[in-house]
Amino acid sequence: MAQEVRGVVAPGRNEAVRVETIVVPDPGPGEAVVQVQACGVCHTDLHYKQGGISDDYPFLLGHEAAGVVEAVGEGVSDVAPGDFVILNWRAVCGQCRACKRGRPWYCFDTHNAEQKMTLKSDGRALEPALGIGAFVEKTLVAAGQCTKVDPAVPPAVAGLLGCGVMAGIGAAINTGQVTRGDTVAVIGCGGVGDAAIAGARLAGAAKIIAVDIDDRKLTTAEKIGATHVVNSATADPVAAIRELTGGFGADVVIEAVGRPETYKQAFYARDLAGTVVLVGVPTPEMKLELPLLDVFGRGGSLKSSWYGDCLPSRDFPMLVDLHQQGRLDLGAFVTETIALDEVEKAFERMHGGDVLRSVVVF
Ligand code: APR
Ligand code: ZN
Ligand code: ZN
Repeated sequence: MAQEVRGVVAPGRNEAVRVETIVVPDPGPGEAVVQVQACGVCHTDLHYKQGGISDDYPFLLGHEAAGVVEAVGEGVSDVAPGDFVILNWRAVCGQCRACKRGRPWYCFDTHNAEQKMTLKSDGRALEPALGIGAFVEKTLVAAGQCTKVDPAVPPAVAGLLGCGVMAGIGAAINTGQVTRGDTVAVIGCGGVGDAAIAGARLAGAAKIIAVDIDDRKLTTAEKIGATHVVNSATADPVAAIRELTGGFGADVVIEAVGRPETYKQAFYARDLAGTVVLVGVPTPEMKLELPLLDVFGRGGSLKSSWYGDCLPSRDFPMLVDLHQQGRLDLGAFVTETIALDEVEKAFERMHGGDVLRSVVVF
């Protein structure tokens, strides 16, 4: 039978979000209902609220979540009721060209639930953020969006792997292929950049240079694993990174802001034949201008990292295990835990600069 639960809805462009009663259908074929235990507040949720993603209001916000599977529909065999899972927004199809070529992290036909959750008040269908919608006591997703992990990890920590933290770690280890002895620079040290620092450390980078315009961010970056910091509001980051790397530039530079000027810094701060990874998300009007001769002459690779080029079934359990072994401090990303009705306040705090992640705990 369909259930009624409480969830956070963005009703219209720039309107304050509010807690509403949501109707969650029973899982159909290939679907699962998950009892959400924790869900982080991500910039993408704010972008939905502001109309930066689409105009398909009302949105059910939240997508960095962990919880327990309550029920599964017909044909679901990978997860079962009682499993502790992290939700992902790219349930790979296994059938498209990317999947069949053995590169499922590029899948272009990822799955979401077929049925819609609805608003109790007027019956309107909700558009779930990134096909998840998890600021809600229970959510309906495609079963492939559930990745089973060790239930010993606290949900507030586990959920963060569902989006921003995975994007950052994956930018370093999957896309950037950072390895032992590499020099790495990370431009922009919010949640995503700091996760890239944690990923670079995990991979054995010899030097990890954190760049930001805010000293508080640099202090946190050092705690997470940066060996050197550069405040690019007061120093030229390209010159500083070169100086810290024997005049060469870094092997891998990760851009975690999403702006042309920081991308250019990343481009020129890497060593010849080095790698630039763009994990920051630009906006549609942004343009990049670079001398084509420099693009050619400096060699190497310029890559983008979507969701950290992650494969949830491979990466989530592995990163949870490393956390449990004390080798990756995912807890450092949880700045505060909040209640369901505090999401609007968390959006306001996002721009204050001292929150990596606020996490709604149920
Ligand atoms: N140079 C260096 N750092 C900058 C600059 C700049 N010009 N402008 C902003 N920053 C820093 C901010 O001070 C902040 O620490 O970049 C960081 C951005 O962090 P957040 O706003 O917390 O964003 P985050 O969640 O880390 O996401 C970063 O990745 O997934 C995308 O959409 C997301 O584009 C965003 C990026
Ligand atoms: Zn596919
Ligand atoms: Zn997110």
